[in-house]
Amino acid sequence: MSIRILATSPLVGPALSELGARFPELRLASFRSPEWNAALPEAKALVVVLSDALTEADLDAAPQLRAIGTLSVGVNHLPVAGCQSRGIAVVNTPDVLTDATADLALTLLLTLTRRVAEGEALVRSNQWKGWEPDQLLGSSIAGKCCGILGSGPIGLAFARRSWALGMRPLFWDREGRGGDVDFGAARGPRLALSELLSRSAVLSIHCPLTEQTRHLLDREALARLPKGAILINTARGGILDEDAAIDLLMTGRLGGAGLDVYEGEPRINPRWLLAPRTVLLPHLGSATVETREAMAQLLCDGLAAALSTSR
Ligand code: DGY
Repeated sequence: MSIRILATSPLVGPALSELGARFPELRLASFRSPEWNAALPEAKALVVVLSDALTEADLDAAPQLRAIGTLSVGVNHLPVAGCQSRGIAVVNTPDVLTDATADLALTLLLTLTRRVAEGEALVRSNQWKGWEPDQLLGSSIAGKCCGILGSGPIGLAFARRSWALGMRPLFWDREGRGGDVDFGAARGPRLALSELLSRSAVLSIHCPLTEQTRHLLDREALARLPKGAILINTARGGILDEDAAIDLLMTGRLGGAGLDVYEGEPRINPRWLLAPRTVLLPHLGSATVETREAMAQLLCDGLAAALSTSR
């Protein structure tokens, strides 16, 4: 019996089982396990997650492949050009994770500026001796500029949230466009990267990882941020030069870093664990039940459509 769909993981909600009922040759096998490797040559579709880095060699090993579905909006782990040249559809999960990801970026921003993690640790360690006028002072955000890298749906959703807290959103996008960005609640200027960086008390990354954005925030770019700026990354670790950011945290030049993503994750640069004023999360951007169910549904619907129309 030929293998129709090869999935590396069960998904949240009923979508994958329903897809399996429609295409009864659905197989579950961990990425690059012997079972996955053995099933690949006959696979008509793959279901992967963002940590499953597929290569051109995988496409060569899967001549039957018609579609790849990834449970993510990001497609940086897929050989997209190779898929295009072979007529393999790529199905990702945009839009349904916009609010969840923007919510998590906001959570990181408030956790850092109000020193939530340190306060929680103080109480939990039973070391809190009582209220003091200068205890765990954070910084206010109202009236300050919030630089946003990317003016796609997640960048706009984060802009609305920061604006609701009194911040002033500024944008940069990969196309280098000028003019204003209408983020729904108001408008904010699109600036050259160097100007945006020099004005951003908070910088939040919301662009995809591409060859253009890899290490976009290098040492020189990060040095343009005002002293004490807060950096938030819920996009992809590779956009940031992590060692440069850690150096700036160590010297106090950078006021804090809230990270949900890491270059080479789940391996984490061990220096992050020693860096001051950091909040480190395990890639939770889209991690709500509702969002993951919606992502699974979108992915499975897209695969079913691609398989139904392919040869
Ligand atoms: C994505 O879907 O690409 C996000 O990183 C998930 O959190």
